[in-house]
Amino acid sequence: MPVATYGMSVFRTHYLAVLCSLFAFALVASPAAAQSANSQTCVTNFSANTDYFPSKIKVENATFFSVQYFNNYKLVTNKNTNETFALTQCGTPQPTNLPNGTKYFTVPVKHVAAVYTTDVTFLEFLGVRSAITVLGSSVDVSSPCAQKLLANNTIASLSQNATMATEQEASVDVVFGAFTAEPAQNNSVSISSTSDPGTLNRAEWLKFYSTFFNLEDHAQSITQALFDNYNCLRDASAAAASATRPVVAWTSYDAPSDYNNKTASWLISVAPYKAQLTSDAGATIFNSTTLTFSTSAAFLDAVANVDILIDETYISSNITDVYKNYNITTDNVGNLKFASSKRIFREDTVQTLAGAIDWFESAVVQEDAVLADLINVVNSSYPSASYKRVWLRNVAQGENVVIKTAADCVDPTAPVVDIAPKCNGTFVTPVNGTAPSAAAGNKVNGLWSVGMAVVVVVVATVAMWV
Ligand SMILES: *[C@@H]1O[C@H](CO)[C@@H](O)[C@H](O)[C@H]1NC(C)=O
Ligand SMILES: *[C@@H]1O[C@H](CO)[C@@H](O)[C@H](O)[C@H]1NC(C)=O
Ligand SMILES: *[C@@H]1O[C@H](CO)[C@@H](O)[C@H](O)[C@H]1NC(C)=O
Ligand SMILES: *[C@@H]1O[C@H](CO)[C@@H](O)[C@H](O)[C@H]1NC(C)=O
Repeated sequence: MPVATYGMSVFRTHYLAVLCSLFAFALVASPAAAQSANSQTCVTNFSANTDYFPSKIKVENATFFSVQYFNNYKLVTNKNTNETFALTQCGTPQPTNLPNGTKYFTVPVKHVAAVYTTDVTFLEFLGVRSAITVLGSSVDVSSPCAQKLLANNTIASLSQNATMATEQEASVDVVFGAFTAEPAQNNSVSISSTSDPGTLNRAEWLKFYSTFFNLEDHAQSITQALFDNYNCLRDASAAAASATRPVVAWTSYDAPSDYNNKTASWLISVAPYKAQLTSDAGATIFNSTTLTFSTSAAFLDAVANVDILIDETYISSNITDVYKNYNITTDNVGNLKFASSKRIFREDTVQTLAGAIDWFESAVVQEDAVLADLINVVNSSYPSASYKRVWLRNVAQGENVVIKTAADCVDPTAPVVDIAPKCNGTFVTPVNGTAPSAAAGNKVNGLWSVGMAVVVVVVATVAMWV
């Protein structure tokens, strides 16, 4: 599979680079010099004048976290939740006189809990999947290797029983993922990756996680490669974009439920990262003074002229469901540009058997791969004519979902690597326009009923995304 091959090559390139730099360092540095990377072991002979963190991250685009380095500790702050974490190098004294509320950790941490599946991909990118011993929302996890480790109890599911969950969380060094500060839980680390407004902002949270593992070097180089690839895809897309940019609407249907007073609504999202992705893919996001509609007719009137609709409704298996959710019928379909041209996409290509959607898990960090998908939605010849979208499927053309199970885990110890296509600066413009082609094949049925079972579990996660 070329996609995976690309991923591996990035990984190898990274390690070659690391090896080369280590080798070069060995040649030029005197043996007594300071360590070359942040140490994975405890200090045995503390000296106050030693810089124990020679590798430091540099925050470029994220606005919701910061890191300040001192000789033997670092202060990591989630600026969105106002939580500060003092990370002290193992074997060295903890700082004193820090503001009340500061939470203390000894790094590198060894065992962690992940509250949400989004945390899992960040940790897998850093190569520390084996540090995960407890996982919340485990019913939703799509990572094949996390599924495998859950199946044989190497990773435990966070218990539904609050007493037991508290015990599980107390047994690890860090609990990553709370959306809000949890002052009463001294090892809880709040994460705001999905609220940080911007595409690269989201991906850059890899650096935040890395500080707990002393893996700054690794995070810095992965992020750099990812950012470079994103910017290259964006620039190539801008150069190839048509003069008239297609309009893309990101929409969802909120079915009547106990969460909304049993009142249906139809929603348009203009979240900053979606606006940025849409623009970077060579299109324009649909915006309107009204973003929430109480009737499908008013909603359809508003979006009638959009070229492409991205349906973000959590549960919807196929075009029949989509039409039903938006009340698109034979009577009105002809008035809807995106429907008559069959350009209706969903983010749910990659799913689990239970119907949980990988987009919420592995798309947050791989923003360059997300951009490549959207570029292809906007123009099916780009980034290349043979490009195969990862997450976005055209339901109007009957494109299929892909189910991930534990059986897809090749090596539980291997890091996850970026699956984005490598951008070389330009897209090849087709000689004559290539029409989007429908993928033929078998549809996956029966997801609806299983999906209903997970919908309650995912409500909190999805809430962060709208
Ligand atoms: C991200 O940060 C870099 C370096 O500071 C800057 O050049 C770039 O414009 C930023 N990108 C975005 C999308 O803000
Ligand atoms: C910090 O906590 C200590 C002990 O609980 C208390 O005496 C002190 O007043 C607090 N300081 C601030 C600034 O809240
Ligand atoms: C669980 O599976 C992983 C990956 O195959 C393996 O490394 C580990 O030893 C297994 N653990 C148990 C308890 O079977
Ligand atoms: C939760 O777990 C604790 C400890 O195992 C047990 O004593 C308690 O009965 C459980 N509570 C429920 C509601 O199952």
